[in-house]
Amino acid sequence: MINQQDSENFFLGRKALVTGAAGGIGKVLVESLRAKGACVAVTDLDTSDLTAEGHFDGNLLDSKFCDELPKKVADHLGGLDILCNNAGIIKRGPITEMTDEDYSLTMGINVEAPFRLCRSTIPLMIGGGAIVNTASCWGLRPGPNHPLYVMSKAALASMTQCLGRDHAHQGIRINAVCPNEVNTPMLRTGFEIRGLDPAEGIEKLDASVPIGRIAKPQEIVDVILFLLSDSAAYMCGSLVEVNGGKPVI
Ligand SMILES: NC(=O)c1ccc[n+]([C@@H]2O[C@H](COP(=O)([O-])OP(=O)(O)OC[C@H]3O[C@@H](n4cnc5c(N)ncnc54)[C@H](O)[C@@H]3O)[C@@H](O)[C@H]2O)c1
Repeated sequence: MINQQDSENFFLGRKALVTGAAGGIGKVLVESLRAKGACVAVTDLDTSDLTAEGHFDGNLLDSKFCDELPKKVADHLGGLDILCNNAGIIKRGPITEMTDEDYSLTMGINVEAPFRLCRSTIPLMIGGGAIVNTASCWGLRPGPNHPLYVMSKAALASMTQCLGRDHAHQGIRINAVCPNEVNTPMLRTGFEIRGLDPAEGIEKLDASVPIGRIAKPQEIVDVILFLLSDSAAYMCGSLVEVNGGKPVI
């Protein structure tokens, strides 16, 4: 079967901003968008390892940085058609172990930063655009012992539905990808923090997924690219689960 996204410069001339660009999913997302013709501006705490059309390093907890970033990127690239709110953090443990700092960090990076970036980007998307937020299956149904992460991803999913509806009339499509487990530093460091061997932990997780393994970053990126592309022209406010058949239990 011909994969239309592979066979064309799908995003030729489109100008994109990707957050969390130096992370497991972010790196693959940046490479894939560039491979399909997009001009990509990247932001993360340190993007010096990445090849991109613009580097805008900064901390998403800095509200001024978030508010000003889309305009800076649009000035640099000559417009802004695509925003990927991909950065995120995960704090593990029940609410009784969560500190005020854990709350502020989680809500600041996973919710407030996408809120600020969407708010500043939408007015710049004259004539249309596409935003994809990286939420999580756990934002749709709660997994155990991660209340802050689950709450934050639920808020991001809800914001996606609201904005998808509110801005469709401007030709701006806003959707979210909702992965279950993906093999990235976020997942692997989780095992390390708990004193477990990441390779063993991933093997166990693989066995829990009906398709036989957890996701590779590219498999999440492929869905993000679809949501950004004109193939998803009628999708607004959708929350797309990508889970290899594994429900949240
Ligand atoms: N890996 C998974 O199993 C999984 C599952 C579902 C959803 N997700 C989501 O996918 C997205 C990407 O995650 P990943 O797995 O690639 O994780 P990752 O940890 O590899 O990448 C996240 C990136 O966000 C950046 N970031 C964190 N805090 C920041 C801050 N204050 N300012 C600027 N950048 C900051 C990090 O530097 C990092 O490069 C996240 O939103 C995550 O919640 C991941």
